Amino acid sequence: MSSRVGWFVLGIVTMFVGLVCGAYLFVRAGGVSMETNARPLPLEKTVARLALRTSIGNATDQKDPLPVTDANLLAGVHVYEDHCAVCHGLPGRARTAIARGMFPSPPPLFEKGDMVTDDPEGVTHWKVTHGIRLSGMPGFGRTLSHAERWQVTMLVAHADTLSPAIRAAIGGARAEGERPSR
Ligand code: HEC
Repeated sequence: MSSRVGWFVLGIVTMFVGLVCGAYLFVRAGGVSMETNARPLPLEKTVARLALRTSIGNATDQKDPLPVTDANLLAGVHVYEDHCAVCHGLPGRARTAIARGMFPSPPPLFEKGDMVTDDPEGVTHWKVTHGIRLSGMPGFGRTLSHAERWQVTMLVAHADTLSPAIRAAIGGARAEGERPSR
């Protein structure tokens, strides 16, 4: 009986060592490219999404404590221009070389289809505060104030319904009289 348990434990240990060695050899043989333009690994996106969802947890339920006013949105524009635009772009402007060189690609948050207007505000605020590890998305929890993080969250959460004045403030002189965003 006890020798059967012994063989069983040995089997588990051998399997574990085999897996670790296999993973090492796979990486050593170049199986995991660190180039930003390499194709994603099998399951890479699935694992990243699952880990992110678990990390965010119930921050999803958090609501923006600030009222949606032009003053708060305008403050959000200033934060966005200073800290986000280089990666996430400005409406109607070409993507920067920095944005084009990143993996994963930073979604252009003012382009239809890539906006986060349907995401819960709590999720966007969590990402702005903590960042997304191994993606290049910085965490701003220690560098932007509580209000600034909610103001920029408010801005990107309302990217599809901004007043002409706010749109004009983001894109410089453009926006008014442009083709509508929906
Ligand atoms: C250095 C580049 C960089 C900067 C600066 C940056 N981000 Fe990001 N951001 C990224 C990348 C890359 C991703 C994609 C991460 C991923 O796919 O997992 C991302 C993801 C996001 C997402 C999630 C988008 C989605 O579709 O789920 C939000 C929201 C976001 N960033 C907001 C911001 C805000 C707001 C700022 C400024 C306060 C900012 N980011 C600054 C690179 C950046």
